[in-house]
Amino acid sequence: MSTARVFSGAQPTGELHIGNYLGAIRNWVTMMHEPGLECTYAIVDAHAITMPHDPKELRERTLRLAHDLMALGVDPKRCTLFIQSEVPEHTELAWYLAAVTPMGDLSRMTQFKDKSDNAEFISSALFTYPTLMAADILLHQATLVPVGDDQLQHLELARETVRRFNHRFKKNVFSEPKPRLSRAKRIMGTDGNGKMSKSKNNSISIFDTSEAFWKKLKGAFTDPQRLKMTDPGRPALCNIFAMHEAMSPPATVEEVRSNCEGGKWGCMDCKKVVFDNFETELVPLRKKREEISLADVNAALDEGRDKARGVASKTIRDVRSVMGLGR
Ligand code: AQP
Repeated sequence: MSTARVFSGAQPTGELHIGNYLGAIRNWVTMMHEPGLECTYAIVDAHAITMPHDPKELRERTLRLAHDLMALGVDPKRCTLFIQSEVPEHTELAWYLAAVTPMGDLSRMTQFKDKSDNAEFISSALFTYPTLMAADILLHQATLVPVGDDQLQHLELARETVRRFNHRFKKNVFSEPKPRLSRAKRIMGTDGNGKMSKSKNNSISIFDTSEAFWKKLKGAFTDPQRLKMTDPGRPALCNIFAMHEAMSPPATVEEVRSNCEGGKWGCMDCKKVVFDNFETELVPLRKKREEISLADVNAALDEGRDKARGVASKTIRDVRSVMGLGR
């Protein structure tokens, strides 16, 4: 059976939230168990410095994210798990790809517009972030990328980069990567203003205590037109319903839909049911986190770095060769 390579990354910019989990990380885990897929997952700390950051905090968050991912089922025995900055070929390839990436394409990226809006300092690294993301994927020769829909525009740019690079250097060095979306491809923030994000105060952390989790879920926005319980709800527009679609069994999803549309359940009823389903899935994962030691995490990251460098060094050799770099 032929093997397809999978790559994805998460930034150590804060606590992992249910958007990251339902939008991407759960797919990371599922794909690790799919026959014919070879998965590589990175903690993309070089992406995290595109916004002003605290170095000590970044290092702590990097290790914490690796620990969290392992607790969520990212098993280093079934995939390569590593820290991006420990494989310097990522930033090297990003520079080479920048040479075939037009500025006009980068200036159309909505994430750049969102993150630079009202920012005091806008780094050029934030502007070239999508080039580094393309390098992450292409360095590992990945053709499948499990992501949330916020990353689709960047992935499309990576595909375009492949076409440009192969055409310009007349060799098929890279293949075009495709996204793998989950059912919950975009979870909105608890305030209803845009997607749930680690760096905004609008997220529900996976590793929060049950009490803190419920407090945030309880206060999360729903359909703004639903003022009384008897008002007919619009599940397609409700963030809590999106969570049900990802978390609840099909019969419950239908029960929620009908009771919401029929004005029989209030939003709090709906939240209680989804909370119970989150608890069923997340409490064992929180417990598992306590059982994974820091030594286990470091050992996995050491092994992951060495494996990742093996693939990376081969790609970089090919790229340097077709681009005429070095001797
Ligand atoms: N709200 C979301 N719904 C669905 N998927 C999401 N993802 C992020 N937010 C949502 C997906 O999670 C993966 C890891 O994300 P990331 O760490 O690379 O950074 P991000 O997309 O920028 O996520 P955040 O949480 O919003 O971080 P900050 O605040 O630092 O920018 C990705 O696959 C992403 O699509």
